[in-house]
Amino acid sequence: MSTTDDQTEPTSTGESPGAFEDPGLPYHRPRKADVDQKADKKAERQVAAMFALSIVGTIVAVGGYFAIDMTEEIASIRFTNMVIGLGIFLAMAGIGFGAIHWAKTLMRDHEMVEERHELRSSDEAREGAIQNLKDGVEDSGISGVKRRPLLVGTGLSALLLAPLAALVPQLGNMGGDWNTKKFAHTMWRQGMRLTRDPDGTPIRAADVTIGSVFHVIPDGLNDLEHHMLEEKAKAVVLLIRLDPQDLKVQEGKEDWSFDGIVAYSKICTHVGCPVALYEQQTHHLLCPCHQSTFDVADGAKVVFGPAKRPLPQLPIAVDDEGYIVARSDFHEPIGPSYWNRLGQTSDGLSESEGGDH
Ligand code: FES
Repeated sequence: MSTTDDQTEPTSTGESPGAFEDPGLPYHRPRKADVDQKADKKAERQVAAMFALSIVGTIVAVGGYFAIDMTEEIASIRFTNMVIGLGIFLAMAGIGFGAIHWAKTLMRDHEMVEERHELRSSDEAREGAIQNLKDGVEDSGISGVKRRPLLVGTGLSALLLAPLAALVPQLGNMGGDWNTKKFAHTMWRQGMRLTRDPDGTPIRAADVTIGSVFHVIPDGLNDLEHHMLEEKAKAVVLLIRLDPQDLKVQEGKEDWSFDGIVAYSKICTHVGCPVALYEQQTHHLLCPCHQSTFDVADGAKVVFGPAKRPLPQLPIAVDDEGYIVARSDFHEPIGPSYWNRLGQTSDGLSESEGGDH
């Protein structure tokens, strides 16, 4: 490595056959602080001032932490956080800016050049490596199948079979999940009550006030002995009541809601996250994963984000005792929209068969 402090004009390595001329380094311009004592002192004071600012920031942050009597009120918490945050910002920024300014104005300013060395190994090293490989093959005894047919045969077999040890359990655990048709149905049935998640208490229509949201599971889900979580993952629903005047009833779904109460699958149609952020004023449901937004007032249609279809609606009614019940299962598969791409919609639920299974 060498330095080029004294460089005053571009250098050239001269021409060689087939090469272009080395442009060299740009002309070195000294900085103001390099040639002017006053500028040097000024830069030094500036750097010192930034470090001093950092010290003040530290004092503010630590002092604020101990001196401010933070109560549980939001305003008090905000004020304390603001003072401590400001102190930390000054402490860090002062050091950062000071160090940069120091390096740019006061540290020695000279170009560093490191000559490239040839990347290719020497002939001697290359020959040595090849010889090592040959020796290894020779030592292992696999160079001639005829010499060690048993070892070569069992070794190759072991290598070929070993991946199965990992693959078979993985594939076996898929179990019935290979049958994607079962995702087309949930446990909702005609007359099944909508109950609160997680305690499973039924919900009266009168309990659902305008603007409220209930996280819902099917009645009896908690009593399932097997596959309870799988069934829950498919059947979870959001029950929301809107002012009936705000609700745009969808064609063919006139009797799927009750006095402004609607039920939609909670499983996002993008890649299946739970959609659970409801904005009461706009009637928008937001999926926290990739911000798909569904308009509950308009058939849960997608108004923003990557989801490609509305949330499936669960048709509901009210029974004789005033409890909300399902009219049927969903009329389309819930969750991510790969059904259509796999051409399986016809194997799933069609409008005509929805809910009768
Ligand atoms: S899973 Fe909901 S937006 Fe992606």
